[in-house]
Amino acid sequence: MALLLHPLGGTATTTTTTTTGGALRLFLRALLPPPAGGAARASSWWSHVEMGPPDPILGVTEAFKRDTSSKKMNLGVGAYRDDNGKPYVLNCVRKAEAQIAAKKLDKEYLPIAGLAEFNKASAQLALGDTNEVIQSGRYVTVQTISGTGSLRVGANFLQRFFKASRDVYLPKPSWGNHTPIFRDAGMQLQSYRYYDPKTCGFDFTGALEDISKIPEKSIVLFHACAHNPTGVDPRPEQWKELAAAVKKRNLFAFFDMAYQGFASGDINRDAWAVRHFIEQGIDVVLSQSYAKNMGLYGERVGAFTVVCKDAEEAKRVESQLKILIRPMYSNPPLNGARIASTILNSPDLRQEWLVEVKGMADRIIGMRTQLVANLKKEGSSHNWQHITDQIGMFCFTGLKPEQVERLTKEFSVYMTKDGRISVAGVTSGNVAYLAHAIHQVSK
Ligand SMILES: Cc1ncc(COP(=O)(O)O)c(C=O)c1O
Repeated sequence: MALLLHPLGGTATTTTTTTTGGALRLFLRALLPPPAGGAARASSWWSHVEMGPPDPILGVTEAFKRDTSSKKMNLGVGAYRDDNGKPYVLNCVRKAEAQIAAKKLDKEYLPIAGLAEFNKASAQLALGDTNEVIQSGRYVTVQTISGTGSLRVGANFLQRFFKASRDVYLPKPSWGNHTPIFRDAGMQLQSYRYYDPKTCGFDFTGALEDISKIPEKSIVLFHACAHNPTGVDPRPEQWKELAAAVKKRNLFAFFDMAYQGFASGDINRDAWAVRHFIEQGIDVVLSQSYAKNMGLYGERVGAFTVVCKDAEEAKRVESQLKILIRPMYSNPPLNGARIASTILNSPDLRQEWLVEVKGMADRIIGMRTQLVANLKKEGSSHNWQHITDQIGMFCFTGLKPEQVERLTKEFSVYMTKDGRISVAGVTSGNVAYLAHAIHQVSK
């Protein structure tokens, strides 16, 4: 008798007597994995892995897909839709793609820091061509995997080199991915007051009070424009006071700019806060994304910039960013950066882009006005002014979770539980229905 140990824990007994057909079958069966069930699971490497909760936003889309109503609306997902509710590819992007295809370029690896002409154009777009930082070369920009990848590279860079503190202060609330990005990079999350539910607006007093008490040399994150999820941005005079507080407390400012041009329709206006902080002598870091403003969502095009003391420091920082990126993903993807770079660096395409990005912003601003007008038409007596005061893709409606639930159940209107709607999903065809539904659950 010989005892065979099965790799997944089963045992097989074989006999050394004359091999009959039956004995052979027995032998072969013993070599097969044991049937699915207790034995296999108990010996798995992953039996301790618990089922995680579904992503709150993608979960909304799943529920939307299952709904068979012809009136259904998905206002959960943060992607622009045209006035027919369809995904929109910008003309300038189509043209840039055609130009790139005609050149029959190779598909070699990019350098670790990405496409040089894309990086330069991104920094110029954010800071302005004539910015002293650009002129003196006291910055480094690396191409990243969209805004999320940029934030993660930034978070890892801070984790490795920001010696003064582990604490990152986020506005409350903030984009849902900020916390896991910084936490997974080994940083600790704190918060400062930002949104005032009473006014559905900016809690300026609260924000300023909290920021003024943050321990010196901590990191504070700001949404440069079109705050997600609230749609509430500080006004320029408020930004000035926030910058003064940051400077006074010697805090480190991390700007997340995922919506440049997409908020007001004007790329310079949307970058005002970042540029103001730099003018005040605050050496910021900055994450950029081209997902929304160029509609390059799935191409994953972004950039991370560190403003440094001088060009020599920038070189040292760049060398360390490369050392950080190399084991993460080696080097960034080529295609999207080529598209963005072609648009930013050719005057005609750039001009066309500026018109198109304004077109997207204006459509959203128009939908906000129409939504409020239709709510009035429905006879709603609430003050909905915050819908038009807020800016960017999202609107924090102020609807309570039970009202959101009714909107979904009774009207097939899907959104996140916090009452946030993506205004980009509202069209001239469905705005009246949305207003009707909101009025029915809020009257
Ligand atoms: C505030 C904010 N930061 C960053 C991002 C990053 O997005 P992406 O990784 O698609 O560029 C988003 C996208 O929704 C966002 O809202």
